[in-house]
Amino acid sequence: MPKIIIAVDGYSSCGKSTTAKGVASYLGYAYIDTGAMYRAVTLYFYTHHVSLTNPKEIVKALENIKIDFRRNPETGRNETYLNGLNVEDEIRKLYIANWVSEVSAVSEVRRAMVAQQQRMGKARGVVMDGRDIGTVVFPDAELKVFMTADPEIRAQRRQIELLAKGEMLDLAQILQNIRKRDYIDTTRADSPLKQAEGAIWVDTSFITLDEQIELVTHLADEKISELIRENNFKS
Ligand code: DC
Repeated sequence: MPKIIIAVDGYSSCGKSTTAKGVASYLGYAYIDTGAMYRAVTLYFYTHHVSLTNPKEIVKALENIKIDFRRNPETGRNETYLNGLNVEDEIRKLYIANWVSEVSAVSEVRRAMVAQQQRMGKARGVVMDGRDIGTVVFPDAELKVFMTADPEIRAQRRQIELLAKGEMLDLAQILQNIRKRDYIDTTRADSPLKQAEGAIWVDTSFITLDEQIELVTHLADEKISELIRENNFKS
């Protein structure tokens, strides 16, 4: 069976990570949450007072950052570790969300993360979600998906997610954060969020998470079958 790379890009809170996780689990692939990597860098910069206007300081800080994902045996979930410390819950908080778009717009940060992501996906058989996977990290990914949804619906989803984690936030505040991140992510000079060439556009405003997973799983199955057929034709 050929192993492919599936790139899931799109706006925040469209259900990208849940979809990517579901598809990875169905195919027995690794799932890589690249947003978590940028969030972990943001947490490090925040706690070490790294200034975004000082490239030397940024490069030095990046040398001291090690990010990896480890499976929690109790929940079966992959969790983010920063320099050996479990930061999975901390990086999901709003103070990180409020700063992550600025940190991830820094070219030095992007270069370091992209190199690590390319190493992680080298063996293929991965589902990676982010903003630039289909455009920069793996432009040769066999399946590319671009997810979008109405900002107000995304804010409502985010509010429910945060509430489940004990963070009660005003809908207007969340919507403001979403709009700000959309703006920075799509207008930054380095690797802005945009639909990659060949990416399939999926609007998740009015479909459920299960339907999203089903849709992308179906696209992946089709792509894998197509590759098997092509190979048979060649031999
Ligand atoms: O997917 P997320 O919301 O956890 O991502 C957090 C931020 O990281 C998002 O605002 C943009 C940035 N990001 C990025 O620039 N490139 C990626 N491949 C993934 C995330």
